[in-house]
Amino acid sequence: MSVGERRYTIALEVNGVRREGTVTARTSLVDFLREELRLTGTHVGCEHGICGACSVLLDGEPVRSCLLFAVQADGHSVTTVEGLANPDGSLSVLQDSFCETHGLQCGYCTSGILIAAHALLARNPRPSEDEIRHAIGGNLCRCTGYQQIVEAVELAAGRMSGEEAG
Ligand code: FES
Ligand code: FES
Repeated sequence: MSVGERRYTIALEVNGVRREGTVTARTSLVDFLREELRLTGTHVGCEHGICGACSVLLDGEPVRSCLLFAVQADGHSVTTVEGLANPDGSLSVLQDSFCETHGLQCGYCTSGILIAAHALLARNPRPSEDEIRHAIGGNLCRCTGYQQIVEAVELAAGRMSGEEAG
């Protein structure tokens, strides 16, 4: 049996739940999430680390899941866009802010941008516009022109700190 055919058992925490699976050495993390765990909110775009559509949190840090092998996530914690919702399934403040400011059109980039914005707000609750643009700089959007996305993150930051953004 070649290395490519051999299957490995992995165990990781995904959105707070322990999950197991068997993967080949070359199975990407995004393929594992989408095809094995059916978490299809994480999108596949370029598969080359350029577009950011496949972004997830690995131990709290945004990563490109198309550039990671699933075996590299063994023993780690992964958060996908499905894990950003409130426990009752309702939209988080950040997600709701994207709806309110029309921060998405086709939505293909949206899960990745939500991941990047969530990570930003976790480490910097009141980011400047420049900091927001820098944080989402690795996530390509072909529809919105980015302005409403920035407004969504500003609105969420204001709401989460108890004040509405202007
Ligand atoms: S699909 Fe991973 S960066 Fe584009
Ligand atoms: S909303 Fe279409 S790519 Fe961003």
